[in-house]
Amino acid sequence: MEKKYSVTVAGGGSTFTPGIVLLLLDHQDRFPIRKIKFYDNNAERQETVAKACEILLKERAPEIEFGYTTDPETAFTDVDFVMCHIRVGLYAMREKDEKIPLKYNVVGQETCGPGGIAYGMRSIGGVIEILDYMEKYSPNAWMLNYSNPAAIVAEATRRLRPNSKILNICDMPIDLEEKMANMVGLSSRKEMSVGYYGLNHFGWWHKIEDKQGNDLMPAIKEHMAANGYADALSNTNQHVEQSWIETFAKAKDVYALDPDTIPNTYLKYYLFPDYVVEHSRKDYTRANEVMDHREKIVFGACRDIIEKGTAVDCGFEADAHAEYIVDLACAIAKNTKERMLLIVPNEGAIENFDRTAMVEIPCIVGSNGYERIVQGAIPQFQKGLMEQQVSVEKLTVEAWIEGSYQKLWQAITMSKTVPSAKVAKQILDELIEANKDFWPELK
Ligand code: NAD
Ligand code: G6P
Ligand code: MN
Repeated sequence: MEKKYSVTVAGGGSTFTPGIVLLLLDHQDRFPIRKIKFYDNNAERQETVAKACEILLKERAPEIEFGYTTDPETAFTDVDFVMCHIRVGLYAMREKDEKIPLKYNVVGQETCGPGGIAYGMRSIGGVIEILDYMEKYSPNAWMLNYSNPAAIVAEATRRLRPNSKILNICDMPIDLEEKMANMVGLSSRKEMSVGYYGLNHFGWWHKIEDKQGNDLMPAIKEHMAANGYADALSNTNQHVEQSWIETFAKAKDVYALDPDTIPNTYLKYYLFPDYVVEHSRKDYTRANEVMDHREKIVFGACRDIIEKGTAVDCGFEADAHAEYIVDLACAIAKNTKERMLLIVPNEGAIENFDRTAMVEIPCIVGSNGYERIVQGAIPQFQKGLMEQQVSVEKLTVEAWIEGSYQKLWQAITMSKTVPSAKVAKQILDELIEANKDFWPELK
């Protein structure tokens, strides 16, 4: 009989959980599931999502055992995969990450600049704790982590749990590759093979071919030069709001800086921080947009299901955008040797870059984990930017481990989004106050 898997979703109360559950149901043929459990440290938030998913699962897949809990032993015993998407501090803290830097005319963003550093200082402990639970109760399980800020979380796990079975992955390159496939008339990114190097939310494509080996870069570059990614908005239900559409269009200017490569959208925060600040509202940031839209919609639909007692016509859709998570689980479960971008220790894959850096590069994934695909030497422009940014990430993790104010001040000062050590200190001091329930004490 074919093996069936037990999956625990950590961050059960996440806005992404219902979409992931439906996605898992859609892929039963290649990734069969016997058990789904939700784990969260916020019982009330999780319960709303869990009760709705329980009704949905009973209707659509009664054979799958389902449970939800805040107890680590129950959550992590008899598990094959942990899908980890937690947000330590919830959107209320994301709002502060975004608004505090903006007060000082510095980029206010979830994963970039001081906001990303602040979020990192909250996430490290949460993700390590879940990893430890998983290893204690299911030592053979794999964690697929996409909790943000993935770059900082990945560096923290490299430093603190170097032998753990955790794979860090991000969906931004996937979304952008879908757009590129769209530009050249391919039906899926899976018809392309790519070369890519960088850090998470900080990378570039340097090679894109179709399966016959034809170079697709010239055609994609034409689109990038004309309209960035705005030519090819995809048909998924994520990244559809105005702020994202502007980000896809702004990639045109990011591309112009190095027309030899295709940039990740997140580079705009580092290369055009003045533009970003000018186009931000200090009183209404992305966190507000998400709280007013995605969070309300998801929790509204959950309450509706619970009230009606049925999930028929509930409006939830499988999160097609997140199919990469099933691909990753399948690659490990079935040794598919699929090529995927992962965030892994460099160890020479980018030849002229820090061997210990957590880099985002293509890897071949199978039952025993990943093998890196060598990307060779990178140009001075990218190397310089990446050295600065990886130092920000490493200093943040060192600050968390050592409880060092000094190192966190250095990290914020070093971010390309921050104009001076003085501004860095002002932002840091406000962030410390705002994060006193979450950060280690800094001396
Ligand atoms: P959310 O706030 O809706 O959900 C997060 C859940 O995590 C909450 O229910 C919260 O209670 C729970 N949580 C917080 N700390 C916890 C802890 N220590 N232990 C257990 N549970 C904890 O957030 P969301 O917007 O749905 O996003 C979830 C995460 O996924 C975020 O980190 C987000 O940045 C990330 N994300 C990553 C990608 C990617 O490409 N890497 C894509 C989308 C979302
Ligand atoms: C992209 C990134 C994720 C990030 C998300 C934010 O998908 O890859 O890492 O969490 O965007 O989206 P949001 O809708 O929460 O602003
Ligand atoms: Mn990401």
